[in-house]
Order: sequence, then structure tokens, then C-alpha cells
Amino acid sequence: MKHPLPRWFAHRGGGSLAPENTLAGIRLAARLGYKAVEFDVMLSGDGTPVLIHDETLERTTNGSGRVCETSDSQLFRLDAGNGEPIPRFSEAVALCREYGLLANVEIKPATGFERQTAETVALMTKQLWQGAAIQPLISSFSLEAIEVARDLAPNIPRGLLFESVPDDWLQEMSRWQALTLHCSASHVSDQVLAEACECGVPVLCYTVNQTEQAKALFERGVSAVFTDRLDLFSSETSAYKGLQLGG
Ligand code: G3P
Ligand code: MG
Repeated sequence: MKHPLPRWFAHRGGGSLAPENTLAGIRLAARLGYKAVEFDVMLSGDGTPVLIHDETLERTTNGSGRVCETSDSQLFRLDAGNGEPIPRFSEAVALCREYGLLANVEIKPATGFERQTAETVALMTKQLWQGAAIQPLISSFSLEAIEVARDLAPNIPRGLLFESVPDDWLQEMSRWQALTLHCSASHVSDQVLAEACECGVPVLCYTVNQTEQAKALFERGVSAVFTDRLDLFSSETSAYKGLQLGG
């Protein structure tokens, strides 16, 4: 099932206009016309996948301590901003399906939970998007997580995620049978972009919060960007690069 790759992804759900990694953020992205959202998924102390970026609760919630040591009953009582709760992964999936959004599920394991997180998220991703016209894209900085996703959900497209792209990135792509390359906008080199162009690999860059920077990246061959500034790109969100995701 093939579908187009949008050029703009709302980063951490709703970027900076809504509390990050919340359902309110995803709703806002959809309302502003975004066709794609990226969010981070980690396991709670009870093994429930939830949307959160940091391993600890302090920065984004009114709680404290490690996410992987916090029970669901404690976690879901917390305020993740503006009275929004931390969402379950399953709730975010339901919302993306309802709005027809392409989701970039970034598996964000707490240290030491790489395999367990990837197993849970990969299996749920496969199950929760079963039969959906728009399939998600799984990515992770953890190659162990990517390996698990490849083995347990082989038909869900995978993106390799790097801050700085290693020289042997093309070998890694083929090793993990990945479709897209995700990397920091400040580190992406013209050599990587030339190699990606030659091999037909879409490059997605984070985090791009200025229109001039987005324009320059697109001109250099970047296919899509993750942005916190949903307000800056909302008039352009329906523009697609002529690329297809899926198999
Ligand atoms: O997936 C792209 C981007 O979200 C990676 O960085 O730290 O915001 O998850 P981070
Ligand atoms: Mg992320």
C-alpha cells in the first residue's frame, strides 16, 4: 500500500504550540492542515507504551522520577501541560487514524529497555494500524529497536535516525531494510544528500523552525522536515514531495 510522503511533520505531536507529545498537539497539527506527525514512544513502569520524550518526568509534566519506574495509575494522573494527560500510544494511534495522519512513531526506549520497548511498540503498531490506508513509519536512534521492528513488523516502513549520519549509512540502511533516513538538519552533509538522491532514499531532517532553513534544505534535496513551528508552515502542509511510502 503506497502513499505520499508529506514534506512537513509536526514534531513531538504539536510542536511548540501545544504541550509536546499530547493528543491536544496531534489535534492541533491536524487542524492546521498537517498531514504527518512525529511522536516519541516509551514504556511506563507497567510496560504500557506512552507518548513522552524524556526518560524522566520533570521537564514535561508535574511529576518526577523515571518514566520506566512510574506505574500507570501514577502516570496517567499527571499533567503534561494545559491539563493534558500523558497519552497512551493506542490513543495517539486512534487519533492519527481518525484524522488520516501519517504517524512517525519514534521508538524512544529508556536505557536498558531497548528490546522490550521495541517489541511492544512494533507489535502494537502492526496491530493498531491493521488495514489502514495510511501506514505509519517507525524510526529510532536505537538500532536494536530497529532490528526488533524489522523482525516483528517487517511490513511497517522503517527509518534510521541519526544525529550525525555515519559514513556507512547506506550499508546500515540495507542491513535493516530501512526506507528513509532521518537526521539532524544541522549535521546533514551534501555528500549524504547526493548519495541519498542517487539511491532514491528520502532524507527527513529535524528540527527545522525557520522558513529559510526549510527552503534551503528542500533545495539541497531534503524530502521532509520535522518542525515545532506549526504556525510557520501551516499554509504549505498539503504540498507533497512526489515520493511514495510503503510497499
Ligand atoms: O524523530 C526526529 C526527532 O524527533 C528526533 O529527536 O530528540 O526530538 O526525539 P528528538
Ligand atoms: Mg522524536
